[in-house]
Amino acid sequence: MCGIVGYSGPGNSVGPIIEGLSRLEYRGYDSAGICLKINDELQIIKKEGKLDNLKALINEQKPFSHTGIGHTRWATHGGVTTDNAHPHGNELFAVVHNGIIENAGTLKKELQAEGFVFKSQTDSEVFLVLLTKFYKQNNNTLQSIAKAFNTITGNSAFVIIEKASDKLYCLKRSAPLVVGDNKETREAFVSSDPFALIGFAPRIYFPQDAVICESIVTDIDVKINFYELDLSPSERYKFQSNAMTMDSTTKGPYEHFMLKEIHEQPSLIEKLAAYYIKNQGRQILDSLKSYRPTGWHLTACGTAWHAGLVIKNYLEQINRQSASVDIASEFRYKNPILNKGEIGLFISQSGETADTLACQELCKENGIQSFSIVNVEGSTLFRNCDQNFLIHAGVEIGVASTKAFSLQVLTGYLMSRAMEGTLDDPSLFKEIKLLSNRIGELCSNVESIKEVASEIYNKKGFIFTGRGKYFPIALEGALKLKEIAYVHAEGYAAGELKHGPIALIDEQIVNIAIVGPELFEKTISNIEEVKARKGVIVIVGPKGSSELEHLSDYYIGLDFEGLPNLSPLYVNVALQFLAYHIASLKGTDIDKPRNLAKSVTVE
Ligand code: F6R
Repeated sequence: MCGIVGYSGPGNSVGPIIEGLSRLEYRGYDSAGICLKINDELQIIKKEGKLDNLKALINEQKPFSHTGIGHTRWATHGGVTTDNAHPHGNELFAVVHNGIIENAGTLKKELQAEGFVFKSQTDSEVFLVLLTKFYKQNNNTLQSIAKAFNTITGNSAFVIIEKASDKLYCLKRSAPLVVGDNKETREAFVSSDPFALIGFAPRIYFPQDAVICESIVTDIDVKINFYELDLSPSERYKFQSNAMTMDSTTKGPYEHFMLKEIHEQPSLIEKLAAYYIKNQGRQILDSLKSYRPTGWHLTACGTAWHAGLVIKNYLEQINRQSASVDIASEFRYKNPILNKGEIGLFISQSGETADTLACQELCKENGIQSFSIVNVEGSTLFRNCDQNFLIHAGVEIGVASTKAFSLQVLTGYLMSRAMEGTLDDPSLFKEIKLLSNRIGELCSNVESIKEVASEIYNKKGFIFTGRGKYFPIALEGALKLKEIAYVHAEGYAAGELKHGPIALIDEQIVNIAIVGPELFEKTISNIEEVKARKGVIVIVGPKGSSELEHLSDYYIGLDFEGLPNLSPLYVNVALQFLAYHIASLKGTDIDKPRNLAKSVTVE
């Protein structure tokens, strides 16, 4: 959610900032902007719309500057306009912001009453105005940053440059922020995501909340200073060498990152299984052997929440352990009952989702252990949890999550098998290999799904149904379709349809019905009910069934054989393809769907 990049060094800051923003554009693409210090003035170039609009302006002006900050926005306060685009600046400072200033409304009124004028409707400008006000009183940038930060509430990250120097300042509260440096080239960097710094900063630092970072580049060195808000030196940061590589940043032969990421799944599934069963990850899983917490609290958002629903099923059915799954934004405010001996399990691709992080904090405060299933190593969630189970998905750029879901579920399944003590059971590796092969077959044989997509893409609405372990897949299939194709879609437990939603059914409504080998007859009866009301029936079920062929208008036949536990993942990939091709026919921006951002760092 909002991408931030800052640079200070002997080179032209424009190159690394624009490259960084391009890598982060999937986090927000309502507008983009850059502020450069040129001839001792702070010059802002910003534009509503996608980053390409800003790039066009930059190509015309060809600016050169040793110090600058850039931002790609996902709007929270204030509409999508050029005025509301970041950076916000004045004669003294320029600021980029990711997050929300919760008391911005009150502060703005107070500042306006004091005579300060605002140029935008954003909460972010409140921070700039506060900073300027304090600086005019004390002439001290660090003190003014600390004071402004102490005045605001909410979770935010800020990067600040000033007219008076070439320093980069930044700080944050419960929002992602990383500082980097390159000692050889004497360059300093800041970003909301280490991904933006790959290839630029071999050394990176993760400051904790309320630590001010000050990057100073001199003729002989680059130095990062860390301060507490009382301006005493701080050691509350983590250093890491930046080992990330660039291979995930291109689409390769695929039209979209989403398609590339769907296709990556077979090999990532096998790699993850090898990592956890045979290689380094085995030790982490072995620590779960005979593990008996008194209960599990799974929390996550969106697609990761759906992964949690599948994992709950494993914990209950394989381990007979009780598990609750909550949407993080609900869990954190429901005064949950948390007892010693229970485990909080947080599922997140980014490891930066604000609501999920808040749930982890809550569990910690209540003295219960936190585990994560997470993709981004070094993310806030990763750093805050007692034990992390990495999903090793690589960078996921498509805003609609695909490969992360599969690998989250697989990791949960392997955790469950580890607790059961059956990681060495040959049937486990066999099932995973089979899953990878079946998904591989789907990837190379997607014509039939494409044909179905072409028959139904113009319909009014879509109801995805499934029972048991396929119910979370119905939810996930509907989410994927609505987010990238902008059509109304919802997921329902097949047996629940007659309790209300069946009223929606007519010939313009498509029922995407998942039929597993389990509860086969009962699921068929649910489909008959929809068919009787003239709904369009698409069945995703065991292949070669004349009954399903006869019942459906369109039939996506899959081979469920040999996948007793992992078939939900297989079905899900078929639905990923269906959503992708429907969206493609509708001509939407598949990798950057409207109104969305990849990582939701506001509550
Ligand atoms: C949907 C999607 C979102 C995320 C959700 C949680 O395709 O990507 O629903 O799953 O915002 O994000 P993470 O997993 O980063 O916590």
